[in-house]
Amino acid sequence: MAYEYLWVEKYSPKTVEECILPAAIKKQFIDIRNSEKVPNMILAGPKGGGKTSICRALANELDRDLMIINGSDERTIDVIRNKVKNYASTVSLNPGKKILLIDEGDNLTHDAQLALRGCIEEFQRNCTFVFTCNNINGIHEAIQSRCPPVIFKVPSTERSVLMAELYQRVLSILEAERIGCEDNRILVKFITKHFPDFRKIIHLLETHSKSGVIGTNLLAQVSDVNVSTLFKCLKERRFNDVRKWVVENLDNEPNSILRRVYDGLDNVMEQSSIPAAILIIHDHMNTSVADNEINLVACFIKMMVDCEWL
Ligand SMILES: Nc1ncnc2c1ncn2[C@@H]1O[C@H](COP(=O)(O)OP(=O)(O)OP(=O)(O)O)[C@@H](O)[C@H]1O
Ligand SMILES: [Mg+2]
Repeated sequence: MAYEYLWVEKYSPKTVEECILPAAIKKQFIDIRNSEKVPNMILAGPKGGGKTSICRALANELDRDLMIINGSDERTIDVIRNKVKNYASTVSLNPGKKILLIDEGDNLTHDAQLALRGCIEEFQRNCTFVFTCNNINGIHEAIQSRCPPVIFKVPSTERSVLMAELYQRVLSILEAERIGCEDNRILVKFITKHFPDFRKIIHLLETHSKSGVIGTNLLAQVSDVNVSTLFKCLKERRFNDVRKWVVENLDNEPNSILRRVYDGLDNVMEQSSIPAAILIIHDHMNTSVADNEINLVACFIKMMVDCEWL
């Protein structure tokens, strides 16, 4: 099912200047851009903070070839052998080295990471290797020593300055999209709540803008997740609607969604099915899965198939 997070792409920064980042990190990237020498590096930090974006912006400004491999989807040594070698071993037609962005590199398998270690050396003339990750400990030390980490952490002293920049960015997005806001204090509260997850902020703004005006429901808590719609889809075995529901509610913490489902079981399910449903929920909680969407959809499919609904 295709589901586009349109604003997130549309307003993704095209230049290093447009990235809202702590001063030291920004300077580091402006220096890289000005010198036109992109080093091998690991960009580590919390989700939605601009790691992938800045790499894209650099490639865009320097007019470099860029290939992105998603380490969560393409995790295995075969990908490294084939895709990486095919790309990295050939010279770019543009001036300057190619860039290979290995996104979510902490999800690559151990073997794949070890294979990459060799590639980084073998193809260093043609290709720069940039990794992104949420957890630097998930990247093998052999790669860390070849690709010095840049930690995307917002120092507490810069939090308010960056939030103010983001606030201005949000205002300009709303203006461009001709979306009003009942009260700008809602935006300030909303940004404070989700900062520094820019992706979540922009994505939530989009989903709450359908009526043309942003209102207080932007600050809704997870308790507002509408599980009754989900239960109806499960009961009627409308598989595609279940997937759609998951995508629409993914901005909530997965364990909180599962907790809400657990709390609602008594009213919607045959008593004899409840123990099985609880075990299914349990199996999908607190798992360090690579993809929350797939984890939740898998959980709900099991419940749809194995449980009797009222
Ligand atoms: N520092 C930033 N400045 C401006 N926009 C940002 C910034 N960070 C994120 N965004 C917005 O959020 C979107 C997602 O950011 P991005 O994909 O770069 O995050 P990430 O750090 O790579 O997250 P993840 O760890 O989940 O991969 C971007 O397309 C952009 O719209
Ligand atoms: Mg990313």
